[in-house]
Amino acid sequence: MQARIAAMETEADQALSWHPVCGADDLETGGVLHVEAEGLELALFRLDDGYHATSDICTHMRSRLSDGYVKDGTVQCPLHFGRFDIRTGQALSAPCKKGVRTFATKVDAGRVWVGM
Ligand code: FES
Repeated sequence: MQARIAAMETEADQALSWHPVCGADDLETGGVLHVEAEGLELALFRLDDGYHATSDICTHMRSRLSDGYVKDGTVQCPLHFGRFDIRTGQALSAPCKKGVRTFATKVDAGRVWVGM
């Protein structure tokens, strides 16, 4: 069963197009960085369990989440203070109703990669 799960994870990994966005040591735990890949603006977060990437554009009025406040696995938008779950992208508080898109991440060869 474990081998089958590992094979499925490898297949999913290979199905993505991976893009290096920063060095693995460029971001401290609890930090967020604005990065870009494939023409998309992304917010790259480093939490206790690793890196997470979301769209950097708030779904309320397009402020940058990478300028927001990170706490307990959430990011608070700097403009009207709506919050999002960093791991799932789910909107957690008004005025945000729609979640943000999330992206796969991995660390390889000393770089952080975002999968699309
Ligand atoms: S622009 Fe993000 S909460 Fe309004």
